[in-house]
Amino acid sequence: MIWYVMLAVIFAAEIAGIVYWQLRAERRGEQSQTKRWVKSAVLLAAAVVWALLAVYDKENAFIVLLHLFVFLLVGMCADGVFSLIRKKKVKGSACVWAAASAACLIWLCLGWAAAHHVRRTDYSVTSTKAIGQDRLRIAQITDTHIGTTMDGAGFAKKLKDVSKAKPDIVVVTGDFTDANTSREDMQRSCLELGKLETKYGIYFVFGNHDCGDEGERSFTSAELEAELERNGVIVLRDEGVRVSDNVYLIGRRDASEHRENMRKLTADIRPTDYLIVLDHQPNSFTEESQAGADLVLTGHTHGGQLMPLPLASRLLPSFFGDADFMYGKRMYGSTACIVSSGMSSWEFWFKTGTVSEFVIVDVEGP
Ligand SMILES: [Fe+2]
Repeated sequence: MIWYVMLAVIFAAEIAGIVYWQLRAERRGEQSQTKRWVKSAVLLAAAVVWALLAVYDKENAFIVLLHLFVFLLVGMCADGVFSLIRKKKVKGSACVWAAASAACLIWLCLGWAAAHHVRRTDYSVTSTKAIGQDRLRIAQITDTHIGTTMDGAGFAKKLKDVSKAKPDIVVVTGDFTDANTSREDMQRSCLELGKLETKYGIYFVFGNHDCGDEGERSFTSAELEAELERNGVIVLRDEGVRVSDNVYLIGRRDASEHRENMRKLTADIRPTDYLIVLDHQPNSFTEESQAGADLVLTGHTHGGQLMPLPLASRLLPSFFGDADFMYGKRMYGSTACIVSSGMSSWEFWFKTGTVSEFVIVDVEGP
């Protein structure tokens, strides 16, 4: 319902803007009647295309319209500023319209490419603890949201690059699925994930959508868990597992669920263990660092997903109180904490100001 309300509001704002612009152009005597008819026909065609998109996918229709509105608003403001500077009215609102619309189209195309192209992001961390080998390579996959920008077959293609990195461990840090994921795509994705060859296995923690969207799709989180385990993926729900003689891994329940605190989860580990923590949401780094974690891997934020959020999170980090930070790697004491922007995104086909990625972490031994 909220999406329809937002759609109605932005559509009304768009119509008001168009009417204002037409009246302004008429007042300035910028356009002949023929030009106004052509412009109206173009606008009508755009409205029909948008309406079809709204029927197909209301969330993405809203995003397209919102971007168009912002670009046109910026164009109008720029037009006004130029008029003031030159102290005369600029006859060219049609040009401003065309430039703003073209810039919006290019921006959204770049955003679409950023959401659909998955790149590899590398981090290197140094351990003062022995890890039993010179280098431990971890591949992190997160926020695939199967069904938004990739289906099961698309996920299989993206996994080829993960496989080429030859990781020792693969970890999946949640929101593997959401309300848009079909049972077939979920099964295909679990199958493909289980095919990855590793030295120490594939580990999985749930995200808020994996466990929270049950009522909106055709499978439960228990069925997802069973499918993962059928394909050899180890699901951790507030559980720890010894990966090797020197490395211990803890997978936490999502912060939206009732979960154990880190003190309890780390009760049995040895002080010499290199401790890796998987946590879907990046909002417990202080607790995890104080509990002795050496490396924490998270996702959930999608790197802010759409401008201006990625930029605002860098300039005003305290404004986004829920997440400790939105993207990248930071040290909390001696703990390396990583937030990935994920392989895909929630609902939207676009990512602007951020990337789609899988992460490779090389832990270098002492
Ligand atoms: Fe999430």
